[in-house]
Amino acid sequence: MQSDSPIGLFDSGVGGLTVFHELSNLLPNEDLIYLGDSARLPYGNKSPANLLQYANECSSFLLERGVKLIIIACHTASCYALESLKKTLPIPVIGMIPAGIELIQQSNFQNVALLATESTIRSNVYQRALSKQNPSIQVHSVACPLFVPLIEEGLSHHGLTQLIATHYLHPLKFQSIEAALLACTHYPLLQQVIQEVLGPSVQLLKPASRCANNVRNLLLESGLAKQSTKKASKVFFTTESPKRFATLANLFLDLPIQSSDIDLVALPTNKLELNKKFKYS
Ligand code: DGL
Repeated sequence: MQSDSPIGLFDSGVGGLTVFHELSNLLPNEDLIYLGDSARLPYGNKSPANLLQYANECSSFLLERGVKLIIIACHTASCYALESLKKTLPIPVIGMIPAGIELIQQSNFQNVALLATESTIRSNVYQRALSKQNPSIQVHSVACPLFVPLIEEGLSHHGLTQLIATHYLHPLKFQSIEAALLACTHYPLLQQVIQEVLGPSVQLLKPASRCANNVRNLLLESGLAKQSTKKASKVFFTTESPKRFATLANLFLDLPIQSSDIDLVALPTNKLELNKKFKYS
């Protein structure tokens, strides 16, 4: 394991690019490899067994590319696979859960909303961790299953999204919440509409930058921070159409990405030949 090796991140689609974005800003020198498993999106309604399998396959793919650290840039996969990957992988693994918990802990909120996918809510991972830390905390869990498909369809600013957000979140207006944790890496793209529905007094907590901080600390503590001054490389892989990935990625990142910058892969990797045969762009 070399300090000059890249950092690997994965998510079900483009959502984890919110973490990629924070990482690139905080650690501009580090080489990054992003894998968006868009062929199997959404992760948010999948079973524990499938989520563990997907996380194992994404991690193996990144390991084969020689990464020094893996970030599960997906709350759903973190809930089901973080502990297992930490035990089985030969390199450090960072998930999204600690970042979310730390944000609530540091602000000392007592009444919070947890906005996440169905599988994340069902795992009870956040609720357990938050009440362990503060037994009197009130957590209002709201699954928002249509948010990810709307974002991946490029409809973040569509009136339909406003309606759906109101449908999911309006009941929270009567709970006097102080903050809402955006516990899905896609959700920062709906920040504006979520804030409008919840009102200006509710603080939106976005764990991506905290996660990037945790990565920086881990790299420094473990002597894994990149030493070389060579320009950082950013590499993207997707398991579905690179063209679609590029269009969406440009909404998440400052840097322009072309579909030619993104490689199509298949998981498990032996499906790749089939994909090439059909020349799916
Ligand atoms: N972005 C992912 C998360 O943070 C999952 C979204 C999905 O595929 O449902 O939970």
